[in-house]
Amino acid sequence: MATFFPIRLFMAIQWYPGHMTSARKKAAETMALIDVVIEVVDARLPEASTNPLVLELRQHRQRPCLKVLNKADLADPLATQAWIEYYSRQAGVKAVALSSKNHGEAARLPSLCQSLAPHRNDNLKQLRMMIMGIPNVGKSTLMNALVKRKIAKVGDEPAITKSQQMHQLSVRHSITDTPGLMWPKIQHPSDGLMLAASHAVGRNAIIDSEVATFLADLLLLRYPALVATRYGFSIEGLDGVAVIEGIAERRALRIRGGEPDFEKASMVLLQDYRNGVLGRVSLETPETRQAMLNQAEQGRRASVPA
Ligand code: G4P
Repeated sequence: MATFFPIRLFMAIQWYPGHMTSARKKAAETMALIDVVIEVVDARLPEASTNPLVLELRQHRQRPCLKVLNKADLADPLATQAWIEYYSRQAGVKAVALSSKNHGEAARLPSLCQSLAPHRNDNLKQLRMMIMGIPNVGKSTLMNALVKRKIAKVGDEPAITKSQQMHQLSVRHSITDTPGLMWPKIQHPSDGLMLAASHAVGRNAIIDSEVATFLADLLLLRYPALVATRYGFSIEGLDGVAVIEGIAERRALRIRGGEPDFEKASMVLLQDYRNGVLGRVSLETPETRQAMLNQAEQGRRASVPA
C-alpha cells in the first residue's frame, strides 16, 4: 500500500475571506450561461487544489469539464501522467497537462473544449467557456495566453483576479474568467498544508515553519535524492525538522545566540519548492491520495463510539 506521509500534529489551515461568498454566487450564475468549464489545478497537487464547489456548481448545471493540470513544468512527469489517466476515467471530464507560461501550449484548449460540447460548433452557437480554479494556480497566466495579450494581472499573492470578465477568442469561442474561488472548509489538514506550501493560501493564514516541516517530511519520503543534492548533506536518518535545521546550518542561518534560524531555513525550503529549483516534484499521486483518504476514513471510524 502507498504510504502517504509521516503523521505529525499539524494545524488545520483555513482561509475563506468575505469576497469569496459573492464570487461563488456570481460563478453559479455564469455557470448557467456557459457550455464547458476549464478547471485549472496545480499539477503538483491536483486533488488538493481542486475546489469541491466547482464540481458541485457544474454538476448542478450538468456542464462538462476540461481539467487543466497547470505548472506541469514544475511537477513530476510520472505523477502527472497518472493524474491524466485518473481524471480521464471520470464522466464528462477530459484532462490535459501544460505550462501556461508557454503560450503555444494553451492554443489547443478551445478544440479540446469543443470535443466536450460538440453541439456548440457553428457561427450561431458559439462555444462559451469559463475558467475556474483556486487562487494562484495560474488562471490569469492561462487567460493571457489564450487571448494572446495581457488582460489579467498575474501575481504570486493569492486572489489577485477579483471580478469576472468575458472575452471573445474568435467568432466561435468566448471565454469568461472568474476570481480565484476557495471553499469554506478544507476537509483534510494535509490538503491545507499542500496548498500553503504551493502558496495558494495567503501568508496571513499560515505558519511557514509548520508548512515547511510538512513539506520536508513529504520530500524525504518521495524525493530524498533531490533534497540531498540541493542542500549537499546526507539525509540518512533525518526527519523533516532535522532537514530544515540542516539547511540553516549549511546556509549559516542563525538567530542571536547561535541557534539555527528555523524560520529563515523554512522559507528557503518553501521558496526552492515554489520556484522549482529543487527539481520536478509532485506532492500527491492518485495512489498517495487514496492512502490519505483511507487513513482519514479509518480515523473517522475509530472516533465514532461503538
Ligand atoms: P491565478 O490567476 O490563478 O491566481 O494565478 P496567476 O496566473 O497569477 O499565477 C500565479 C503564479 O504562478 C505566477 O507567478 C505565475 O507566473 C505562475 N505560473 C502560472 N502558470 C505557470 C506555469 O505553467 N508554470 C510555472 N512555473 N509558473 C506558472 P509569479 O511569481 O507571481 O509571477 P512571475 O514572476 O512568474 O511572472
